[in-house]
Amino acid sequence: MTTLRRFAEAKSLGQKLALITCYDALMARLIAKTSIDAVLVGDSVAMTVHGFTDTLGADVPMMVSHTAAVRRGLGSGGFIVADLPFLSHRRGRSALMRAVERLMRAGANAIKLEGVHGSDSDIQYVVRSGVPVMGHIGLTPQHVHALGGFCVQGRGPVAEASLHDQALRLQDCGVFSLVIECVPRDLAGSITRALTVPTIGIGAGSACDGQVLVITDMLGLDKNFEPRFVRRYADHAQGVSAALEAYAADVRAAAFPSTDESFGADT
Ligand code: KIV
Repeated sequence: MTTLRRFAEAKSLGQKLALITCYDALMARLIAKTSIDAVLVGDSVAMTVHGFTDTLGADVPMMVSHTAAVRRGLGSGGFIVADLPFLSHRRGRSALMRAVERLMRAGANAIKLEGVHGSDSDIQYVVRSGVPVMGHIGLTPQHVHALGGFCVQGRGPVAEASLHDQALRLQDCGVFSLVIECVPRDLAGSITRALTVPTIGIGAGSACDGQVLVITDMLGLDKNFEPRFVRRYADHAQGVSAALEAYAADVRAAAFPSTDESFGADT
């Protein structure tokens, strides 16, 4: 069973961590049978499942519902990190703690929040309350409007220094791990070497201590979203289309259901 200690141990032993996003119980049941180290119930659920064009569509009830579903599918052993959605940690300490409490009671083992500016003391407060926090820097999708789009971050000396600083500040706040999203690989490598907590990269090269991918991307389910940093390990969009067309053809030809797929009076 993955625990917080496993994250620290993996970093000290130089063992890479493999994380994946998950949003539902069925997929969580499949993940539970694999060696995946931990599951992220990401606010990417707003895009992958709910059809929003960015993650701003996620709110606390949505994240709680998907976290609970993933916990039911994963069983008690799997490690779940749940995202604090857009602005839920920027409405004051009590709103933050209510959101954290709801996610933890829904089955999360840890929460993730984006950025550090203006959040230092809140992150420390959550950590000191006994809730593990994963940080997230680089392309932080909840800041998509401020960043001017979904684009690579940390290019140029000023941006590089800023990301280094943010990473160290988050480590000082007590995060147990840090997602680095869409930054040049050398920068992610140098941040990784500067930290004692493990970095988890997405679009940040192989020097990170671990990787995370959005499950629908790596399964090739979304033909409209094929960024450079995603490796597609399957082409399920093709498989799903083929299965649906085969089903529709069988129905139209009265080839489905067969006798064996229907009930007789006594069988
Ligand atoms: O919401 C999400 O899926 C994420 C990962 C891309 C890191 O934050």
